[in-house]
Amino acid sequence: MTLQTPKLSAQNVSVHYGAKQAVRDVSITMSMDEVTAFIGPSGCGKSTFLRTLNRMNDTIPSAKVSGEILLDGEDIYAPSMDVVQLRARVGMVFQKPNPFPKSIFENVAYGPRIHGLASGRAELGEIVERSLKRAGLWDEVKDRLDDSGTALSGGQQQRLCIARAIAVDPEVILMDEPCSALDPIATARIEELIADLRGKYAIVIVTHNMQQAARVSQRTAFFHLGELVEYGLTDEIFTAPRQPRTKDYITGRYG
Ligand SMILES: Nc1ncnc2c1ncn2[C@@H]1O[C@H](COP(=O)(O)OP(=O)(O)OP(=O)(O)O)[C@@H](O)[C@H]1O
Ligand SMILES: [Mg+2]
Repeated sequence: MTLQTPKLSAQNVSVHYGAKQAVRDVSITMSMDEVTAFIGPSGCGKSTFLRTLNRMNDTIPSAKVSGEILLDGEDIYAPSMDVVQLRARVGMVFQKPNPFPKSIFENVAYGPRIHGLASGRAELGEIVERSLKRAGLWDEVKDRLDDSGTALSGGQQQRLCIARAIAVDPEVILMDEPCSALDPIATARIEELIADLRGKYAIVIVTHNMQQAARVSQRTAFFHLGELVEYGLTDEIFTAPRQPRTKDYITGRYG
């Protein structure tokens, strides 16, 4: 399997919650110029594995991660790694839109401000505008930047959260079922956005919706019982899976 620009690479990653193992010896390499979809039945470890990629599991006391994860060849679990910096480089968008209870402007400006990315108010305003444009939300909010982020519709809130992730100039964006709380129109909007963002960021999306995985991703990883069962080109995973468990899942035998 050839990868054009390896960006994130996991080697033999396992995760335990206390004595219970949730992810088993997963090795996978994700590329800069592709969208990677993680699919698999509920409880198979998709979110747990996704969270290892920006050390979100650090916030769960019982979670223990082993193995190695490299971002541009650099070990993200090395003691020298600045975790705040890492989470700016590897941003995350959650299942339920979670804007801060602050204005639309402040939601996007917060990250660039704490990371010192703007030299003044004008530059901060430019970053906010650029991020909202890139997230496909600018036209809908440009006249109400002082309104609360929580006053937007669900789909708009999710695009605001994507703008917030983009604003700190990330390299990778992790999305954990970003559309599961959205209606079909808002979902289509996010899928278009993912297509637009492809190539600018390495994108990983967890989804239960196999049509969505087929539409938005170039590569798909199928997880089952904590294992990475099969990883390959999305077209091949959906038309000619090599593993019986993948075939059973995509044909709806379980899930
Ligand atoms: N904070 C936690 N503490 C203990 N166990 C957890 C925790 N989070 C997840 N688990 C367990 O780890 C396993 C994998 O969960 P995970 O949330 O990663 O699955 P998932 O594939 O994302 O499922 P879903 O599709 O339902 O979101 C499950 O058995 C789950 O119960
Ligand atoms: Mg999950």
